[in-house]
Amino acid sequence: MNGQPVSAFTAAETAAMDTALEAALQGPRGANPLVGAVVVGPDGSQLATGYHRGAGTAHAEADAIATAISTGVDLHGSTMVVTLEPCNHVGRTGPCAQAIIDAGITNVVYAVDDPHDPAAGGATTLRAAGVSVRSGLAAERALDLNRRWFQAVDAKRPFVTLHIAQTMDSRIAAEDGTSQWISSPESLADNHGIRSRIDAILVGTQTVLVDNPRLTARDANGDVTGKQPLRAVMGLRDVPEDAAVRGDDGRVLHLPTRDPHEALAMLFAAGTRHVMVEGGSRILSAFLAEGLVDELIVYLAPTLLGSGTPALNGLGIGTLAEAQRWEWDAASCGAVQFLGRDIRLHLRPEEATVPQQTQDPPATAQPVSTQSTSTPSTSIDSLPVRTAAGTAMGGY
Ligand SMILES: NC(=O)c1ccc[n+]([C@@H]2O[C@H](COP(=O)([O-])OP(=O)(O)OC[C@H]3O[C@@H](n4cnc5c(N)ncnc54)[C@H](OP(=O)(O)O)[C@@H]3O)[C@@H](O)[C@H]2O)c1
Repeated sequence: MNGQPVSAFTAAETAAMDTALEAALQGPRGANPLVGAVVVGPDGSQLATGYHRGAGTAHAEADAIATAISTGVDLHGSTMVVTLEPCNHVGRTGPCAQAIIDAGITNVVYAVDDPHDPAAGGATTLRAAGVSVRSGLAAERALDLNRRWFQAVDAKRPFVTLHIAQTMDSRIAAEDGTSQWISSPESLADNHGIRSRIDAILVGTQTVLVDNPRLTARDANGDVTGKQPLRAVMGLRDVPEDAAVRGDDGRVLHLPTRDPHEALAMLFAAGTRHVMVEGGSRILSAFLAEGLVDELIVYLAPTLLGSGTPALNGLGIGTLAEAQRWEWDAASCGAVQFLGRDIRLHLRPEEATVPQQTQDPPATAQPVSTQSTSTPSTSIDSLPVRTAAGTAMGGY
């Protein structure tokens, strides 16, 4: 810990940390950790609460300070209680350590150190400015809050959100390959909202050939929104010249591999810190089988197909004792949410029940404009390939 661990914290600080941990859950999981903050007055009252709303937005401490200032609260002599060490770097937002000093806050209590190198060191800066800094309060709960995010940072790979849009009988496409749309408009809107805040979206080559998706983030009118994810296509076959996923902005990447570790290493090297894996079933299964999924979002439609493409096609599990166990995730929009006629399920892996991650050497991605020079593709596909003419051109 960069702060000096002490054995006792005040009751007001402990209560504030409870509030901060609760507030943190309102943020979305992804490139940045969930963080909550509460400013406590000299009399122990909670003056303002803040939380981080995702990459590129104000950090929790800055959010709490802004709330306090907007309501005319004087922060001089107060204590900032926060679930993660205040950052020290000028990233997309200013350094929180300086914001705390500028606000006249004289005490900081935080739960765990920030493992993210460029952000670390906030405690040192604060202490040098005469602020009292203590750490370790509710450390286990704060670590658990962002357990998978810490693992992703340690492994130097992007945080992985896996998306499945499925029927009640776990189908993601009908026998003839049609899949647009299994989900309700509300689920699609939710999915596009996630697309607009992630760094990259990933699908398999087969999905590109069958569905010809655009993989852009669009609003309810179908217009592309401001921020667009990098579009990644994973598999050995080339991406067709006329594939909609190519778009015209150059933000597309072919990952000529079938190894999810390698795909993530390529994305990380390209600057991706949060990727959403959208399918199809072989890609979903490959990431799940390797224990590389940090967050699972399932859009469950009240629809039956009875046959067609299953959501998953095998995770290498032979007996119930080997089953992957997941837990409901209260973060973001909660564990269960109705979206039109669909139900959105939000889960994260139970600790130590999914396979341990292994690290592979980094590999290189190929811009889609460059034809793949990779190993000749061995087709393992059995589904018929629909051409662009046979599909809603530029589908999802
Ligand atoms: N409901 C939804 O939300 C949704 C979303 C996406 C897709 N879908 C549906 O899913 C269906 C396609 O699923 P799919 O399973 O056939 O195809 P897929 O998962 O999209 O792509 C499979 C292909 O990816 C490559 N690949 C890369 N890594 C792999 C790995 N570890 N294991 C196996 N293959 C790997 C292989 O092609 P190479 O030979 O090129 O290496 C393989 O043929 C379509 O019908 C589509 O409509 C539904």
